[in-house]
Amino acid sequence: MRDVAIVGAGMTQFGELWSSSLRDLFTEAALGAMRSAGVDTLDAVYVGNMSGGQFVGQEHVGPLMVDALGVAGVPSTRVESACASGGAALRMGFLDVASGQSDVVLVAGVEKMSDGADVTTVLATASDQETEVYHGITFPGLYAMIARAHMASRGSTEEDLHWVSVKNHRHGAMNPRAQFPKAVTLDEVANSSPVADPLRLLHCSPVSDGGAAVILMPLEQARRITDRPVQILGTGMATASLALADRRDPAVLDAVGQSARKAFTMAGIEPADVDLAEVHDCFAIAEICCLEAMCLTDGCSAADAARSGFSALGGRRPINTSGGLKSKGHPVGATGVAQVIEIFEQLRGEAGDRQVRDAHIGVTQNMGGTGASSVVHVFRRV
Ligand code: COA
Repeated sequence: MRDVAIVGAGMTQFGELWSSSLRDLFTEAALGAMRSAGVDTLDAVYVGNMSGGQFVGQEHVGPLMVDALGVAGVPSTRVESACASGGAALRMGFLDVASGQSDVVLVAGVEKMSDGADVTTVLATASDQETEVYHGITFPGLYAMIARAHMASRGSTEEDLHWVSVKNHRHGAMNPRAQFPKAVTLDEVANSSPVADPLRLLHCSPVSDGGAAVILMPLEQARRITDRPVQILGTGMATASLALADRRDPAVLDAVGQSARKAFTMAGIEPADVDLAEVHDCFAIAEICCLEAMCLTDGCSAADAARSGFSALGGRRPINTSGGLKSKGHPVGATGVAQVIEIFEQLRGEAGDRQVRDAHIGVTQNMGGTGASSVVHVFRRV
C-alpha cells in the first residue's frame, strides 16, 4: 500500500443556503479544494451524500457532480452510509490511492436539507424501519433514549450535556463557516426548548446545507507540490445493529470503539497520542458516548470532559474545535469531510483563532444513525 496525503481542501459556508443547489454546493467545495491543491485533473471522485433523492429529488449524484465540475468521464461514485457518508467516502478515496489505482482523487460530501423535505422523516430512514420507524421514532427521540440510558447506568447529568454544547458553541464562535457562530451560556442551553426529553434545542445539531471536499494523492507526489501535506495514517470502519433495542447497552457505541481501535492500530498509535479530534456530536450525548468508546479521555469521565476543560481549546485534548456538528452545522453527507478539513487545517497551522498549539496527530470520527456505522481516520502532520 502507498502512503496517502491530503494536499488541498475547500468547503462552503454551512447553514440554510437558499440560493445554492445541491450541485452548486458540491462545485464550490470541489473547485476550492482543487484550487487549494493546485490540481486541474482528477483520476477519481467519491461523493458522500446521504439522501439527495429524498431531500431534493436527485439520485445518481456521482456522474451529475463530475459533469457539473466540467470533468465528465472521470469515474465518480456516490458513497452512502447515512450521516457517516462523508467519512466513508474518504475511506474509499484513501483505499483507491493507497492501492495504486488512482493518483489524484477528489473526496467530497454534500447535502441540501433545507429545501422543504420533511427532514425528520427523511433522517429517520437511517434507523430500523421495522422496529423503530414504524413506531414513530425520530433521531432526537433515539438519542434521548441513549442519554437516559447513560444517565441511569453512569450517573451523567443534564448539566453534563449543557457543557458539551457550551464548549462547542464557544469553539464555533471562532469559525466563520459555522451555521451558528455564537457562544451560548449554560442557562441558555438549560432553558432552550425541549425537543425530546432530556434533549433540548441547544443539545441538537441543526438542519443544514453545505459541501466540503479534499484532494488526496500519494505522499511521495504530495511532497512535490506542498511542504505541508497531511498524511492519512489509519482508517477504520465498523458496524452495529441499526436498532438500539438490539444492542447490549444503548449507551455503548460498539462500532465507534471498534472503528477507532482499527484506525489506531493501523496508524500505530494509542489514544493517548491523539492531540485533537473531531467527533460526531449530532446530539450532546453523542460526543460523550463517542469519547468513551474511543478511550479519548485518558481514564477521566467523558461526561465531565467539557465542564473540566479537558476537551476545550487550551485543554489536554481539544474536541470539536470547529464547533462540531452542533455549532458548525450538520449537512449530513458533508459532515465527515468537513471534520477532515478541520483536522487538515489544524495540522497545517491554518486554523486561525481556533489553532491548537503543537498538534501532530489528529483524529476524525463520523457515524451513521445511532452509531450503526462508524468511520475513524488518523492524520499526521508530515
Ligand atoms: N441549534 C441552535 N439553534 C437552532 C437549531 C439548533 N439545532 N435548530 C434551529 N435553531 C434555531 C433557528 O435558527 C430558529 O431561530 P430563529 O427563531 O432566531 O430564527 C429557531 O431555533 C427555531 O428554528 P426551527 O427551524 O423552527 O427549529 P425546529 O424546531 O424546526 O428544529 C430541531 C429544531 C432541533 C428539531 C432540528 O434542528 C433537528 O431536528 N435537529 C436534529 C437533526 C438531526 O437529527 N440530524 C441527524 C442526527 S443523527
